Amino acid sequence: MLKAIKEFLQGKPFGHPLHPSLVHFPIGLFVLSLLFDLASYFFRETEWLAPAARSTLGLGLLMAFLTAVPGLVDWLDIRSDHPSKGRATTHMLLNLGAIGLYVINLLLRADPSPQPAPTPLIPLLLSFAGISLIAYSGYLGGTLVYDDGIGVGRHRRHTPTPGKTIRVSTSNARDGLIPLARLEDLQDGETLRVECDGYVMAVVKLEGEIFAFQDFCTHRYGPLSEGSFHDHQVECPWHRSRFDVRTGKVTQGPAKIDLKTFEVTVVDGEIALRA
Ligand code: FES
Repeated sequence: MLKAIKEFLQGKPFGHPLHPSLVHFPIGLFVLSLLFDLASYFFRETEWLAPAARSTLGLGLLMAFLTAVPGLVDWLDIRSDHPSKGRATTHMLLNLGAIGLYVINLLLRADPSPQPAPTPLIPLLLSFAGISLIAYSGYLGGTLVYDDGIGVGRHRRHTPTPGKTIRVSTSNARDGLIPLARLEDLQDGETLRVECDGYVMAVVKLEGEIFAFQDFCTHRYGPLSEGSFHDHQVECPWHRSRFDVRTGKVTQGPAKIDLKTFEVTVVDGEIALRA
């Protein structure tokens, strides 16, 4: 049940991420509310402008809450050691700060004057502050997607992405093997992200078997440990290149260069990398 809710919030049933699809609604409504506020100063006899600003602000808040939920799920899906996690956290906190300002803003408007009147100054200033926060936060959200590929292509995957990188070293090998995780802790189609002496690799369980290959796609370095799996092929989340996880061979472009693969085995129920 929880998995179905998470997949819904990530937009998997729609084939498109949900958070970026919804985010236009609160932004548009908050901007419209501010425009009504400003117009209420220029057209003081028009009695519906300030109430219209209040209604669009309230609707914007409702949509902001609906947009925040899938955003939180997307944020939870970013590895804790991903370089962009801090920026994603700032993006989330700025949005929550803006929502807090809009809640106060709405409460201050809750007592409309019976006479036509412009929006009072404090709510107007709070709307400017809210829009400024959202504009900067939106810019950060854009860099997360366009610069770092956060959230790109994740809606095509049906197993959890790795929450952190497992760091190991060949100097800790026992009998030439480096233990990584218990086999039973990995579900089919799930990946581990492993760094061993500077090599970053993805380890996946497919039909009960374990495969390991370099994590960075040979096209533009997309994170394959966050890709999706089709038979024995991994599909890069960024531009859909596919590689056979058994051989590393490219099976679908745009990538042209094969992946490096690594030897893994299972000993006493433990997945281990051959040093
Ligand atoms: S980075 Fe993988 S297909 Fe472009």
